[in-house]
Amino acid sequence: VITKLNTSVPEEEEDDVDPSKVKVTIFFGTQTGTAEGFAKALGEEIKARYEKAVVKVVDLDDYAADDDQYEEKLKKETLAFFMVATYGDGEPTDNAARFYKWFSEGLKDREPWLQQLTYGVFGLGNRQYEHFNKIGKVIDEQLSEQGAKQIVPLGLGDDDQCIEDDFAAWRDQLWPELDQILRNEDDANSASTPYTAAILEYRVVFYDSEDTSYEDKQFSMANGNTSYDIHHPCIVNVAVQRELHTPESDRSCIHLEFDISGTGINYETGDHVGVYAENCDETVEEAAKLLGQPLSVRFSIHADKEDGTSLGGSLPPPFPGPCFLRTALARYADLLNPPRKAALVALAAHASEPSEAERLKFLSSPQGKDEYSQWVVGSQRSLLEVMAEFPSVKPPLGVFFAAIAPRLPPRYYSISSSPRFVPNRVHVTCALVYGPTPTGRIHKGVCSTWMKNAVPLERSQDCSKAPVFIRSSNFKLPADPSIPIIMVGPGTGLAPFRGFLQERLVLKEEGAQLGPALLFFGCRNRRMDFIYEDELNNFVDQGVISKLIVAFSREGPQKDYVQHKMIEKAAEFWSLISQKGHLYVCGDAKGMARDVHRTLHTIVQEQEKVDSTEAEAMVKKLQMDGRYLRDVW
Ligand code: 2AM
Repeated sequence: VITKLNTSVPEEEEDDVDPSKVKVTIFFGTQTGTAEGFAKALGEEIKARYEKAVVKVVDLDDYAADDDQYEEKLKKETLAFFMVATYGDGEPTDNAARFYKWFSEGLKDREPWLQQLTYGVFGLGNRQYEHFNKIGKVIDEQLSEQGAKQIVPLGLGDDDQCIEDDFAAWRDQLWPELDQILRNEDDANSASTPYTAAILEYRVVFYDSEDTSYEDKQFSMANGNTSYDIHHPCIVNVAVQRELHTPESDRSCIHLEFDISGTGINYETGDHVGVYAENCDETVEEAAKLLGQPLSVRFSIHADKEDGTSLGGSLPPPFPGPCFLRTALARYADLLNPPRKAALVALAAHASEPSEAERLKFLSSPQGKDEYSQWVVGSQRSLLEVMAEFPSVKPPLGVFFAAIAPRLPPRYYSISSSPRFVPNRVHVTCALVYGPTPTGRIHKGVCSTWMKNAVPLERSQDCSKAPVFIRSSNFKLPADPSIPIIMVGPGTGLAPFRGFLQERLVLKEEGAQLGPALLFFGCRNRRMDFIYEDELNNFVDQGVISKLIVAFSREGPQKDYVQHKMIEKAAEFWSLISQKGHLYVCGDAKGMARDVHRTLHTIVQEQEKVDSTEAEAMVKKLQMDGRYLRDVW
């Protein structure tokens, strides 16, 4: 148990802390807002429990401008918490990337220098992925290695189950420890006093729907910026939209082109595009009905009181207004995911029927844990489905947008074009998410449905538009085009490779000497979902692909997958890698990329005639050298 902290605050500290107080800094690395919400909730609870605590909740990116500043500022922290999410192939969130790189790689062989710091880490991840909570684990390890003292064991939040329960369990371990450090003798709110978080609510201002002098600030998160990012996307037109599957297929895959001419958007082959889509009309109309509000209501939400002072609490930043309820529900509300427990608590507070309130409270309580996990998560009940089961629940808009419906996050796609080939376009290749859930609802993915319904400029002047931004990646071709490459990308995993191939075509036309390139592609059936077949054949004819190897999984009696083809071509495969070749894998992380990884391991073992441990070391080395890159989701 840590009972005493070194709380002396250096003079130059900009936010001087009263010497009788203890500064608590809570960092978050967030992508969709969950880690941020947890950080803020933890902050609120610490404030409520301990008068002595001066709490700051900080975005890791905003904390410091560069590595030196990170170091300088961290040295002055005495008590800090890290709420950090892990994404894709064990990657940090965008806002934690800079900190993570420095903290995990930039401090090698350093004498411990964080002895003054006491810390706790809660990671947010998903156990279905190979690198479960990698970022939380690494930050926890590094903090300890740099001399900091761990106050509670690392929390491993698992979004596959109920991450709110994991967070609550981690927090419960924290209070006895924090009591030792932060509790005043006369503090009334000791750890034994149960703490109930207040239900969050924005202040809402209504506007006259008829009055058109208020311009509906369409997408006013956007434009006029010189650089675009997740907080400042750029609105672009959909120039082209077409179906890639044949009519024989019962699924759908969309090719979409965003027109970026004149926007100043820049990207590189292999980057991702973040897209803010809208909920479809059917979903929006259903939501308004459940809320008991007409879609024509015009309002704005505010995180402060009328006099400009803060409302307090951990309110997320409001979306721009005034806008119609239709717009707010379409653009900002995540309506189709299962509601969090905190949302059920807020719904319960606004049920006029006592039995409904009871049931909602039960579902969000520790006793209702199993019921929540089956009835809500297991059945993939959307927020709207849950609301439909409780017709007496009519939350005010200020509560609905603050505490019930999370913000609709942007969706990321691997860009399927090269800017050197199509300078004014960003291409996206998107499989439609569409299928029944256990309750019989047909789940339609928000962004893929939007893309499916998008109207391109080539069909109408009144075309679809979306706020977008670029996220850079390290999934890049070798700088030297003569180096051999092997690409493995079944289904929409083909996307970034289409960009690679376009780029190689340009390089070739400019006179570059191209090295060999194998492409392993997989789909169900040649006649149905062999996307971009003509283009790929053309790349072969042009010498941009040296071999196109396709696995059709549903043509024969047995599944034929890309990894089976890799085994068939093992000798050639390994010989190219041995000639300094680069291996790229793109697509589904949970199944395909994992199996391909195992297959790579087998190939190394057989071709090099080494044992499993040695093979693993060789694969690791490829990864460390940046010659085995994955873009997986
Ligand atoms: P399936 O749907 O017939 O199982 C693109 O989605 C292709 O990837 C499909 O042909 C799909 O086959 C295949 N696929 C599914 N799971 C896979 C796995 N674990 N490894 C490789 N390919 C897989």
